[in-house]
Amino acid sequence: MQKSSLSSLSYLNEISYSYWKAQVLFVAVEMDVFTLTAGNGKSCKIIAKKLRADLRATEMILNALVSLEFLRKNKEIYRNTAISNRYLVKDSPLYQGDRIHHFHNMWDYWSKLNVAVKTGKPTAYDNAKEEVDEQRLREFIRAMHNIGIVQAGEVCGKLHLKKYRSLLDLAGGQGTYAVRFVEENPEMRAVVFDLPDVTKIAREYIKKSGMKGKVTTKAGDCLKDSFGKELYDIVFVSNLLHIYEPVENRKILRKCWDSLLIEGIVVIQEFVLNSARTQPLFGTLFSLNMLMGTHRGASYSYDEMKEWLKDVGLKNIKRVNLDMDSGLIIGHKL
Ligand SMILES: C[S@@+](CC[C@H](N)C(=O)[O-])C[C@H]1O[C@@H](n2cnc3c(N)ncnc32)[C@H](O)[C@@H]1O
Repeated sequence: MQKSSLSSLSYLNEISYSYWKAQVLFVAVEMDVFTLTAGNGKSCKIIAKKLRADLRATEMILNALVSLEFLRKNKEIYRNTAISNRYLVKDSPLYQGDRIHHFHNMWDYWSKLNVAVKTGKPTAYDNAKEEVDEQRLREFIRAMHNIGIVQAGEVCGKLHLKKYRSLLDLAGGQGTYAVRFVEENPEMRAVVFDLPDVTKIAREYIKKSGMKGKVTTKAGDCLKDSFGKELYDIVFVSNLLHIYEPVENRKILRKCWDSLLIEGIVVIQEFVLNSARTQPLFGTLFSLNMLMGTHRGASYSYDEMKEWLKDVGLKNIKRVNLDMDSGLIIGHKL
């Protein structure tokens, strides 16, 4: 992209202070400002009182939120804009506050990007600590659910699932996709496969969705355990492969092939990079996120994932683009 010197400078500036904007959103979501400013809105004085916050500081952050177009200000009353009403009010069905909180949680290890680039090693965890941090895991799962409730609708619109009866949601987390697929295709039954700490939480989400019985769970490790032989019409592999290195992903996909019925399909959902691995922006940044958050994970290109699918014997491979730099890659057993 060629830029004039003035626009180059503002581009540099814009990127350098981007974390200020993110931090304003993180704090507003954490304080649950947008639930207070829903409906007819409130004055700064009332908001500060409800938040038990400093009046002068509250006015500053509210004004920044107006500038960021998350709030409107009219005669000293602050009200939500359409985006904050849709996504940032606690009881909204499409609430995204947990996704935003998850980005906030990542801040700690993103501040150590310099260390990760020098050493090539993850900075997100303490290797000495073996046990799972239950609170962090639940926060992560809530974030995945926020993403899933939006994304599953788009995936359903782009996949034709009517003729399929059995689905394995591999590393399906809390089961948001499996639940949505079964809701849209009442003949379908789904199994959510994930690590034991996660399937325990998935069962709570599935129960709440009313799909218990139609969506079940199976605890296991996809690197070590089998997914069964010739059981499923579809294996959905959403946002798993970026955690692992290519040799592990081929191993996982081989087991997917084994678990498919003869006319079955594998559907991968991932952030898909171009063949030079330089675009789209979110995918390139997500690769750094995996550098810091996993041992050998990364974002991958369509060519790489297509190759893995072909190598394990899947045919007729197709790509479907989704919003937010994601994509589906579909391979057929027959
Ligand atoms: C980024 S989340 C994606 C969750 C869900 N598929 C989605 O798209 O919302 C990755 C999931 O992979 C699971 N996972 C990672 N390694 C795994 C393994 N070795 N065996 C089973 N599940 C695994 C995690 O527990 C987590 O639920």
